[in-house]
Parts: sequence; structure tokens; C-alpha cells
Amino acid sequence: MCGIVGYIGYEQAAPFLIDGLEKLQYRGYDSAGVCVNDGEKLVVKKENGKLTVLKNMTDNGNNIAGTVGIGHTRWATHGKPSNENAHPHLSRSCSFAVVHNGIIENYMELKQELSAKGITFRSMTDTEVVVQLMENCYNGDMIDTVIRVMKMLKGSYALGIMFKDNPDEIIAVRKGSPLIIGIGEKENYLASDVPAILEKTRKIYRLDNDEIAVIRRDGVTVYDTNKNVRNKPVEIIEWNIDAAKKDGYEHFMMKEMMEQPKAVHDTIAERIKDGRVILDEIHLTPEQIRKFEKIHVIACGSAYHVGVVAKYVLENVLRKPVEADIASEFKYRDPIIDEKTLTIVISQSGETADTKEAMKEAQKRGSYAVAIVNVVGSAIASEADDVIYTLAGPEIAVATTKAYSAQLAVIYLLAIYFGDILGKISETDYQSYVSELQALPEKIQSILQTKEEIKNIASKLFACKDTFFIGRNIDYALSLEGSLKLKEISYIHSEAYAAGELKHGTISLIENRTLVIALATYGRLFEKIVSNIKEVQTRGAYVLGIGCEDHPELKEIAQSAILIPKTCDMMLPSLAVVPMQLFAYYVALFKGCEIDTPRNLAKSVTVE
Ligand code: G6P
Repeated sequence: MCGIVGYIGYEQAAPFLIDGLEKLQYRGYDSAGVCVNDGEKLVVKKENGKLTVLKNMTDNGNNIAGTVGIGHTRWATHGKPSNENAHPHLSRSCSFAVVHNGIIENYMELKQELSAKGITFRSMTDTEVVVQLMENCYNGDMIDTVIRVMKMLKGSYALGIMFKDNPDEIIAVRKGSPLIIGIGEKENYLASDVPAILEKTRKIYRLDNDEIAVIRRDGVTVYDTNKNVRNKPVEIIEWNIDAAKKDGYEHFMMKEMMEQPKAVHDTIAERIKDGRVILDEIHLTPEQIRKFEKIHVIACGSAYHVGVVAKYVLENVLRKPVEADIASEFKYRDPIIDEKTLTIVISQSGETADTKEAMKEAQKRGSYAVAIVNVVGSAIASEADDVIYTLAGPEIAVATTKAYSAQLAVIYLLAIYFGDILGKISETDYQSYVSELQALPEKIQSILQTKEEIKNIASKLFACKDTFFIGRNIDYALSLEGSLKLKEISYIHSEAYAAGELKHGTISLIENRTLVIALATYGRLFEKIVSNIKEVQTRGAYVLGIGCEDHPELKEIAQSAILIPKTCDMMLPSLAVVPMQLFAYYVALFKGCEIDTPRNLAKSVTVE
């Protein structure tokens, strides 16, 4: 959500800024802009719409001169997407420029105060108060001024600030929203995320909350809000540079789906030694683990859907109550949670504001928080009591695929690890779970190889208007993700329903040719889901069934069917999700949708 880039060096800044913004497009945006100091003034170019508009307008940044600049992709919150509301924003006399990610919660109050002083605003954004405050408070000392302004702001923000009279510095500020500084040779960079700078440098500083960085051509100094210099460790990014490129695929989403066997393999490989699950990241003693009376899994979006799978898996294996909670609801419902509750938070980005806030609420109430996170060093990873990293590598497509699969793998590891400590798993089951887990990457691979078959099914169904995903037990948990994947990238209205619940109202929506995707992998309830399939077929539905190879009769029962290899019950979602991802992808492809960057969506949702 909103992308920030910055450059200071001896090369032209704008081409890098445009390139960096391009690499941050996955974060979600609806307008883009850059500001470069040309030696005399701050030159701002910004346009509503896709980045290509700005690229064309600036000849890929080549027609803006200057060696220091900041850029931004905006995902509208306060004020509609428009040229005026696009960042960077300039102060009254155009001496300061600011780009911002996050929300200034008290902006109305600050705007009124500034307006009373005669300052007129050019945009409807919360961000503009920051730049006007900078000019209003400037006392000749940049750091002092930034600290004074920070003290007035409430909310979350990552800021990039430029001052016309100082073309030798960019100021970066972080409170809540992520920011990194790339360290180059006689040039330095600013970015919301690693892909923007990966081709330039692998050495970064990751700003922490309430840190202010002064970025110069020859170095970077980081301060705290008492103006003390912070000694920041340099982090070396290990990612393969191709990880942030499409690598010959038409879309990142396809590339990332194809990377799922590796993501799952990498996530489990180091954590299974000699047939035993070793989770060194968990610092809880067996005694502490035994004392937990219940578990809360908290997350948003697809990560929440992993939480719903976790409810079925962990409850079944551990025989302890497990609740899956939507993070934005959890925090504000006065949850019953204390030191006898283990909290598991799940987040690909590690920056999702709702998840982070919910985790803090759980911790405040005494709960121990274990985070499952993909982005190393992210806010949730830093603030959790323990963190288990999914080793999925960078995920660029807004619709998550490989991170979801890697998160599921961690849930299975936790089920086996905790189940063993609690004495709930027999040795035979332990060994069988471990070997099933190790076999997942190969089985996922075999499903990916059937993608042409799924493409063919999608080619016949992509014109559907409404879709219902149904399933029972763990298939229901999975249907939530199948439905979300389809709606987010193809814009087809879709709902997920517990198959047995459909007849309590929603079945009234089934009519001739309504598409129903029936998940029938959970063998114990196969007959029951078949009854539900019959119910909807009788009312005219077209049923696409997804089941396991040991129930080939699904091909006769449903109008179309996809069969996946068998695995143990709890790991079925890892296999069944793959055809649903592929189906959503191909439907979106046939419909001509923007697959990697669906409208209105952001990869990293850093506002509540
Ligand atoms: C956004 C993304 C989803 C993601 C959700 C949670 O809505 O579009 O794909 O599942 O945020 O993100 P997180 O980074 O916390 O997993």
C-alpha cells in the first residue's frame, strides 16, 4: 500500500525513481509521482492512473534533471485518486516536498490549525499537513524540525522529505509503515521495500519506529527522536535478483504458483532433522506449551484463511480449542485472552496494520505471540515473542499463492511439534505426518503440471457471473481461499459456504448454469458433499468438483472434476488450493484482467 522511493547520488535521479516505483507497483496504487531538486527548485511530476502515464510524460524520467529525488505510488485513503491528491506534496512556498505511506489520524485538527494561520491546502490528503507543518515549523535545523513535526502527528507513517535549499540530503522517517535505506557507492537509496533497490545494492538499513535518517551521497546517519545517533546494523539481502523478476512468465502470479513446491520445501527442509520436527525459533518450554488452554490464530485476508485451516488442524491434533480471528475484528471486540492463551499471528508482509495491532492487543493481555511471517525484519516479526519465517522468497503478485502455501506448511509443523509435546500424536502418526509433509512439494508439482487441463476448464467457465465454493470440514476452510482468489483477480462475484449451510438460505441463488465449485477432498464426508452437489445440480448448477484420486467417481457426479493426489487429511488444503489458484488465474486471463495488480487492492495493507 503506497510505495516510496528516493535517490541521492551523482546520476540522474528520476530514471531510478520511475524504475523503483515500477518495482513497487505490486503494493497497490492508483496514482504516481516524483519530485527532483533541479538545483534551483523542487520539480514535481505526478499523474493519476497507472505508472505508464507518468513514464510517458517524463520519458521514463529522462526529461527531469537533478541528482536527488523522491517518488511515490499512492493508494488512495483520504481524497479520491487524482492529480492533486497524488504525492509528492509541496509546502506553501514549494520549499519542502513530502511523500508518505500510512495515515495521519489527527490531520483534520492539524489542517484546521494551519488553515487558521492562512495556509491554503491544494489537496484532500492527510499527507499535506505534514509538508505544510515542515515549512511552518522550520527553524534552520532539519532534524529538530522533523522531531517537532513528529510530535504533532498521530497515526502511522513512513515519510520521505526533501528541502529545496538542501540538495544534499533526503530525510526519511518511520513510524509504523516500513522503510529501508539502500547503501550504494557514492549514492544511497530510499524505498518501502527491497525489490525497488535490489538491482542497485544488497546492503540496507531497516529503519525502526521513531527513527529519522539523513541520507546523503556519501553516507547515512540515523537518529532517534532525542537526536541521538543510532548505530544501525547493515543487513545484507540474500534474495536472488531473479526473485523479484518475472523470469519469462507472463505474470508474477503464475511464476509464484510455480514456485510453490520450492516455497514449501524450503520452509520445512531445515525444520525436519532425522525425521523429527525441530522448531528452534519457538522459545517456549514444553512446560509452558502444556499450560496453554486455547489458541487464537489472528490474521487478515488469505493469511486469515490459513488461520481457518489451522483451526481445523490444530484442534484436531492438539485437542485444544482454537479460534481463528479476523485481525480487524479481534482488537475491538474486547477479546477473552490472557497468559493461558497462545496467539499465532500470520502475515506474509509482516506489515499489515490490523494484524500488528491485534497482536499487540493480545500481548497486552498477557498472551504469548508466535508470528508466521515471510518478510524478514518486518514489524510483526520484530514485535512478536517468537517468529517462524516462511521461506517463500519475495511475493510480488497482489494475490498471494506461494506465501499461503508456505504458511500452511508452518501450521503443519506446529501441529506436529506441539502435538508431540502434548503427547497427542502416536509415533506411527508422527512418522506418517512427517513423511506426508516431506512429500507435499512433489505432489504440488504434479498438480501444477496439469495446468493445461485446468486452463481448458477455465476457458469454458470464465463467463460465469456468480460462483459458490462449497466444502465440509477442512474443505470448507479451503473454500474460503478458493473463493477469494477467484473474486480478487477475476472480479467475479463469489462466495464460500459450508456445504451443509447452503440450504439455509443461499441455495435460493442457485439457478440455471450457476457455477458451484465443490471441494470433495475430505474423504470422511465424501457422501455428504455428494448430497450437496446433487442438491445444487437439481436446481440447475454447473458443478466443478475438486476431489482426491481415491474418489474417481467424482468425475461422473460433477459436470467437470479435477482429481488431486491423496495425502493425510490435515494436509489436503496444500494440494487442493493449487487447482483453485490456477482456475482463478486462467479465468482472469481469459477475461483480460490485470492479474498481478487487481483494481483497488494492495499487497501490503499498512492502514487499519
Ligand atoms: C492484502 C493482500 C492479501 C493478504 C492480506 C494480508 O489484502 O492483498 O493477499 O492476504 O493483505 O496480508 P499479510 O501480508 O498480512 O499476509
